[in-house]
Amino acid sequence: MSLASSEPQVRVRAPGKINVFLEVGCRQSDGYHQLATAFQAVSLYEDVVATHADGFTLEVEGTVDVSGVPVDDRNLALRAARLLAAETGYGGGVHLDVFKEVPVAGGMGGGSADAAAALVACDALWGTRVGQAELHRLAAQLGADVPFALKGGTAIGTGRGDELSPALARGRFDWVLAVNEEGLSTPEVYGALDRHRERHRLDIAPTRVVPEVDAGVLQALRAGDAAMLAETLRNDLQVAALGLRPDLAETLELGESSGALAGLVSGSGPTVAFLAASPEDAAELRDVLDAAGRDVLLAHGPVRGARVVG
Ligand code: C5P
Repeated sequence: MSLASSEPQVRVRAPGKINVFLEVGCRQSDGYHQLATAFQAVSLYEDVVATHADGFTLEVEGTVDVSGVPVDDRNLALRAARLLAAETGYGGGVHLDVFKEVPVAGGMGGGSADAAAALVACDALWGTRVGQAELHRLAAQLGADVPFALKGGTAIGTGRGDELSPALARGRFDWVLAVNEEGLSTPEVYGALDRHRERHRLDIAPTRVVPEVDAGVLQALRAGDAAMLAETLRNDLQVAALGLRPDLAETLELGESSGALAGLVSGSGPTVAFLAASPEDAAELRDVLDAAGRDVLLAHGPVRGARVVG
């Protein structure tokens, strides 16, 4: 008896993310850094449509520039599909159509969202039904941000960023995103941070051994208070991203002097995320940045994690 679903295809939607707080600790022996981060899933989505096939193939299109996305086995969505097949002993394959809204190599977890969506889509298409705990385990094997793309909403990530605990969040946060055509490589940004710290002999925070999310961030998220969150936004990767792309400093200054409550580099960049006090303020800031020649997107969070939409 075949476990495969009778549906000819399954469509799954997964969100991009902004790290509203990201403290980077020491580099571990596996090359990963210890983190404490607060993730917020935002309303830029990746859709993955899985269709029965004999082999493993993928096509990518989107509202963002997708020319830099690999369509071979380097692609994280394809790797997710192969991993699920290998772990479950599923003998068939899949064709994945990926529709991208999240900027590519932009520090917003677009590739991780593709992987999360591919896991959920193949699991439903093939009828493998591995369950949430196993999906999370496979997601963590694919990348540090993949478990959060599965879960969505608001969460605290520790370890490599893949050990998640829920965070209470209320209300809606409005973001204006200044995106860049040319992405940044996450390993390069972490490497630049290591070199920066060595040069300046900086430790994360001399008083703490293990990174931790500030209580103020949790309080602001719980209260749904954008002004309070603006006071506590922090990204330790920002200094490294600005070192690699000094032009981002000008974008940050422009947004912060044009009505944003605060701005920060998103994840490993180069997307710059500005927090606005309301949807109206966000639209106004978008117009200012647009007039100054920036490529701008609007988003809000928190939103749901990976789910079947058709
Ligand atoms: O897990 P993911 O493939 O997204 O990570 C990409 C790279 O980012 C890693 O290979 C590593 O260089 C860096 N990284 C890190 N510490 C983390 C997460 C990512 O150094 N906690």
